[in-house]
Amino acid sequence: MVSNGKFVYLQTFGCQMNVHDSEKMLSILAENDYRPTEDINRADIILLNTCSVRAKPEHKVYSVLGRLKKLKEKNHHLVIGVGGCVAQHEGERLLDRIGHLDLVFGTHNLHRLPELISDVQASRRPKCAVKFYDEVKSLDIFPAPSDGEKVKSYVTIMQGCDNFCSFCIVPYVRGRQKSRPGENILGEINALSKGGVREVTLLGQNVNSYGKDLSGGLTFPQLLARINEIEGLWRMRFTTSHPKDISEELIMAVGKLERVCKHIHLPFQSGSDKILERMNRGYTRKEYMKKGEQLREVCPEIGITADVMVGFPGEDEEDFLETLDLIQKVQFDNLFSFKYSPRKGTKAAWFPDQIDESTQSHRLEVLQKLQKRITLKRNQTLEGRYEEILVEGVSKGAKEEMTGRTSSNKVVNFKGSPDLIGQLVKVRIEKGYANSLKGKII
Ligand code: SAH
Ligand code: SF4
Ligand code: F3S
Repeated sequence: MVSNGKFVYLQTFGCQMNVHDSEKMLSILAENDYRPTEDINRADIILLNTCSVRAKPEHKVYSVLGRLKKLKEKNHHLVIGVGGCVAQHEGERLLDRIGHLDLVFGTHNLHRLPELISDVQASRRPKCAVKFYDEVKSLDIFPAPSDGEKVKSYVTIMQGCDNFCSFCIVPYVRGRQKSRPGENILGEINALSKGGVREVTLLGQNVNSYGKDLSGGLTFPQLLARINEIEGLWRMRFTTSHPKDISEELIMAVGKLERVCKHIHLPFQSGSDKILERMNRGYTRKEYMKKGEQLREVCPEIGITADVMVGFPGEDEEDFLETLDLIQKVQFDNLFSFKYSPRKGTKAAWFPDQIDESTQSHRLEVLQKLQKRITLKRNQTLEGRYEEILVEGVSKGAKEEMTGRTSSNKVVNFKGSPDLIGQLVKVRIEKGYANSLKGKII
């Protein structure tokens, strides 16, 4: 056990899995009497949960760490720790590089956090824990269900990836794919729904290859079907899906299961077959578009979003035009777009034909302009339609407005009172904007 009544300051970088891992960390630290604080000067422990998917979030970690040196000089009892993907990738090197750092813990070591902190405090020596395990204990940590306070929650169903896309660091920092046993997932969601949670988002690097590493367990569509039966749960989402693993069974399940939200996040990365091949993505542009069509056939109202990259090594003007063309043809509801960023240890970092930064920036700008128009148009086509919204809270923009999402994952703001939070309401869409919709409750 660690000492009593202390404060932890935690800053999170990266994806939803990291956000959820941070919730897990706070929950196990709470069991050891550490309370979260927003005031860094008050903290007994400072933790950074880090991301290394691109250079930018990684650099940010080093600049935050640099600024922490002064705090450590003022308070020698302060424990500074780095977890997550940068920690996993860099390991001991981080301790060598940052003299005032006390603890480095990797993506399979969250569950050891209280013990590691105690060790540092007792020995006054830095510690590094970045081992990968066959059985990932942190998959089964879940924050205690709140009594009616939380409307929605993340649930980890798997971690890691076996795909080794040539640009991606994730398989190195999250390890091989590990699926969590179905009964543990169902148990957690049951407990959450008893505590008032109405919507869950199932998390994994590749949710639709869930279960392929377990023998005799549930497949992903079977898991969705079982969650669909849980009493008190109204909605489920899942992210991220890989185009090559979208099976017909899954497409049917999304169409048929009434609690599965009609939204899919399906990164395509590039619209050029040459680039897709060099990325080692395992599908062609034609196959990707076919999956999109099949999803819309089964479920015409489905929202489709994706990730895409520009300036991957060897991407010429023609390849880029093919990416724009795919965007035009698929008509995504929204896109997350990035400049390719070489990652140490990945295959693509060695490719000789890297693209210069100004070309990347130009392509990104062109792509984002195109998508902005498409998003606006797609949002405007919803005007006049009736949509069911799960009310999540008070809108950030205006106080007397509430906010929630459609099944297709679009944010809707509408006039209403906070007692609607946690309820499903019907709204008429009055106006579609670039980033949200305006609705009227009926
Ligand atoms: N498992 C998901 C992606 C996880 S990483 C999938 O397979 O689609 C999230 C997104 O970050 C990716 O979809 C990709 O668009 C982007 N990304 C990953 N590595 C990158 C890199 N080296 N440079 C730029 N963007 C990258
Ligand atoms: Fe990275 Fe590819 Fe795995 Fe996604 S599928 S996490 S992009 S290696
Ligand atoms: Fe980043 Fe790790 Fe997530 S690299 S995107 S925090 S899996």
